Amino acid sequence: MSWQSFPKIELHLHHEGAAPPDFIRRLAQEKSVNLSGVFAEDGSYAFRDFAHFLQVYEAATGVLKTPDDYARLTATVLERAAEHGVIYCESFLSPDFCGGRDLGAWREYLHAIQEAAAHAEAQTGVTLRGIVTCIRHFGPDKARETAICAAETAGDWIVGFGMGGDETRGRQGDFAWAFDCAREAGLKLTTHAGEFGGPDAVRQALDDLRVDRIGHGVRAIEDPALVDRLAGSGTVLEVCPRSNLALRLYPDMRAHPVERLRAAGVRVTVNTDDPPFFRTTMTREYEALERAFGWDEEVFTQIARTALEAAFCDDATRERLA
Ligand code: ADE
Ligand code: ZN
Repeated sequence: MSWQSFPKIELHLHHEGAAPPDFIRRLAQEKSVNLSGVFAEDGSYAFRDFAHFLQVYEAATGVLKTPDDYARLTATVLERAAEHGVIYCESFLSPDFCGGRDLGAWREYLHAIQEAAAHAEAQTGVTLRGIVTCIRHFGPDKARETAICAAETAGDWIVGFGMGGDETRGRQGDFAWAFDCAREAGLKLTTHAGEFGGPDAVRQALDDLRVDRIGHGVRAIEDPALVDRLAGSGTVLEVCPRSNLALRLYPDMRAHPVERLRAAGVRVTVNTDDPPFFRTTMTREYEALERAFGWDEEVFTQIARTALEAAFCDDATRERLA
């Protein structure tokens, strides 16, 4: 079966991380920015491991400077998403990159992104919502400022608050103030946990940050009691299978725990994370899962239903997409 036009919901996508290399190269040329070390000979992004990935990611996305750059990026990201059957997408937006966590500047970036998203929705039919994201290795103080930007712009478009970045630094609980602030503003919560951290990181996310969903979460598989807890609570994991392979968490798709988690009753979704960095698309994710585990239309329909139920948008949007 060709999965390209199958209707898909994506819950875990980094806005800057979805920038195609050509897009970043063109912007760098326009601004005369030297991006040596960012690209491989074939023009794709080049990185050795997770720490290096984060460095390359920040260098590449550093050329995105103005609200207009983000408007152009938004149009490109949604055009690509539409090509792969995505009908609804939540993307991570970082005030760290959009105005340096200054609230006035953040509002300008957000306005440009929302305007571009509305235009793209009219053209492609893809609905976008934003999750404001703090970056863990920038530390708890910057996360507080980010949470304030999130709280001040919370509404029917900014629907969530999250955390990405280097999971090996500090503890989830160091960021509790930021997550509490966002929750009080009515935002839904997610954090990267159980990608480079083990099962304990997932427990911390549940207990110390009280998140609604977990970004990745796949290393929960190493602790059967935690798998039972996730299944029992109905916690949804934003699984990004090909990202995990590209960052060498698992040697190949058959070794990836997504099927074992699903079989144990954990609610999983399928996402791309940073598609051009990991040479993936939603279609490629589906194809790889079909090949490795024999997932068929029934399984992917269930995955899309789970994703729609776990989406942070309002119920009117959810019902329109159902
Ligand atoms: N930021 C962008 N991609 C990420 C990932 N896979 N893990 C953590 N932080 C990220
Ligand atoms: Zn991610």
